[in-house]
Amino acid sequence: MAALECARFGVAMAAQGIGTGPQLAQGLGQRLMQAVVSRVQPQAAQREPSGPISHPYLQAAPARAQVVAVCAQKGGVGKTTTAVHLAAGLAMNHGMRVLLVDLDNQGHVASSLRAHLRASAEQSVSQALLGLDPDLLPAAVPTTVDGLHVTGADKQLSNAEAQLATRMGREMILSRGLRAARGVYDVILIDCPPNLGLLTLNALFAADQVLVPCDLSVLALEGVDDLMRTLQNLQLMFGRAPQLLGLLHTRVDRRNHKQNAAIRRALAQSYQGLSLDTEIGTNTALPGAQLGGQVVFVSSPESSGARDYASLAAEIHAKLFGKAPI
Ligand SMILES: Nc1ncnc2c1ncn2[C@@H]1O[C@H](COP(=O)(O)OP(=O)(O)O)[C@@H](O)[C@H]1O
Ligand SMILES: [Mg+2]
Repeated sequence: MAALECARFGVAMAAQGIGTGPQLAQGLGQRLMQAVVSRVQPQAAQREPSGPISHPYLQAAPARAQVVAVCAQKGGVGKTTTAVHLAAGLAMNHGMRVLLVDLDNQGHVASSLRAHLRASAEQSVSQALLGLDPDLLPAAVPTTVDGLHVTGADKQLSNAEAQLATRMGREMILSRGLRAARGVYDVILIDCPPNLGLLTLNALFAADQVLVPCDLSVLALEGVDDLMRTLQNLQLMFGRAPQLLGLLHTRVDRRNHKQNAAIRRALAQSYQGLSLDTEIGTNTALPGAQLGGQVVFVSSPESSGARDYASLAAEIHAKLFGKAPI
């Protein structure tokens, strides 16, 4: 029922590329950044909608998942809210098999979804990452949202980060840990911590795409610049960096016309064409849903928050898979 209601919110959005070429932030090397933020090409492969997942281990298949890091240096910009609702929207409205990985030791993904959790995991993310052969699959648990699996809250992640720092290939451990999961899911979303530390670097190294939530504030703008520089450094150091899936304007107070216009202008100057069409407005149904441990599509399916995140799922689905939104 909830899934049907959500499907009704699917707003038809044209599958748009990221733009005709990014206008670069001052001081960023043009060629490098073009490599980093090159246009996202819809993939040719068409995928059949998938039903509920019985158990991930039984379904390992050749690598196919798109890995998307939801990343911003600033806290409180809506990273977790976006990761949770994009994951749920892709599963509920687009039949995707989605794994949502929580890399933040605050454990907000699990608390945001606690009414949907069906089991506890065999391993924590820390244990999975610190194993001799890192594998995130034993850290995944199913939810009552068909197709959506998540990793549990992990208060030990800061300790794990310190231990990972002493390992060889320390930036690549998550990438290794997602190899099996890539064969099981269509999309793997990573909710990053609010810093550019080693866990975030691991997420960026593992990711094919990065989605950057940005509330329309000056501090968030500075955070976007820092993240772009980190992508540039990854490209320099390792010869690869995720593509920019888009900047997502979050927590937009639609009554605040003047400030919104000023920040939009600043974003357009530095990152023209990189903002997504969908914007997420402020809506009390979103913190309300988080408080109840449910996704907003279930707790308040008629809210503007549910509509905005359904639009985001449709836009991202079209960008990743080149399909017309439902
Ligand atoms: N669009 C929104 N409207 C109103 N409140 C929001 C919105 N997005 C997020 N919030 C609330 O803001 C707080 C921070 O959001 P969160 O997603 O946890 O940010 P982050 O993960 O970047 O720290 C939470 O209480 C969340 O419920
Ligand atoms: Mg968070």
